[in-house]
Amino acid sequence: MLVCANWKMNTNVSEGLENLEKIVSRVGSLNNVEVSIFPPFTHLDAFKKFLDDKNSKITLGAQNIHSEEEGAYTGEISCRMIQDFCKYVIIGHSERRLYCLETNKIISKKLQQVQKNNLTPILCIGETKEEKDRGEVKSVLETQLTKPLEGYSKDKELVIAYEPVWAIGTGITPGPEEITVSHLFIKEKLLNLGISEDKFKILYGGSTNEDNVANFAREKDVEGFLVGGTSLVPEKFIGLCKNLNASLSTKGN
Ligand code: PGA
Repeated sequence: MLVCANWKMNTNVSEGLENLEKIVSRVGSLNNVEVSIFPPFTHLDAFKKFLDDKNSKITLGAQNIHSEEEGAYTGEISCRMIQDFCKYVIIGHSERRLYCLETNKIISKKLQQVQKNNLTPILCIGETKEEKDRGEVKSVLETQLTKPLEGYSKDKELVIAYEPVWAIGTGITPGPEEITVSHLFIKEKLLNLGISEDKFKILYGGSTNEDNVANFAREKDVEGFLVGGTSLVPEKFIGLCKNLNASLSTKGN
């Protein structure tokens, strides 16, 4: 299973390295879990050197990327700039949709950029509380999947993170059965779009912690996690990764 630590806009490079050191020493080589860290862009170079030095299996990802290859886009970062450091790129996180007004059209262009540069996108989708209350979960997921995936090559790896917006940073989560319903719906849509099962993974994100992770991981179509708050506290994140790894060992995975 894949566990992605989304650090968002937290830590400077030395604080980040301190946290990374603890994570590498405790969960740097788990059998059943691939740990991937998504620090701010400023950390990537130092993190890559540190991980290479330790021969660690931990991978790196970026939290965002610009939709164009290069050019007059002051302050932006392109895929080519992070290619040497990253395996993954998060695209369309709900915080970017909300605060940076990212539309499905921009997200679609970003996805194509990520693919073109041989990185693996983690496309975030999920409904708000209002949309859930109006019974619109499936239609929201459908739109957030189909529009961005227009023009996407089906032969490349794709990761989807189902993140109900109301579960992000709130301590409130859907029940495991609710997650399964959404994951199954996403899986069916991807198959309908002609993407074969071996090409995609579906993660869950939203208030995942060391206590609930094993319970979620028991659900059939949950193939990993996108973790925010818990990933900022090394002890908690290490606990989450260890608990998940142990639960998968007993499951026989
Ligand atoms: P959370 O964040 O784990 O703090 O809810 C998840 C995310 O935003 O990816």
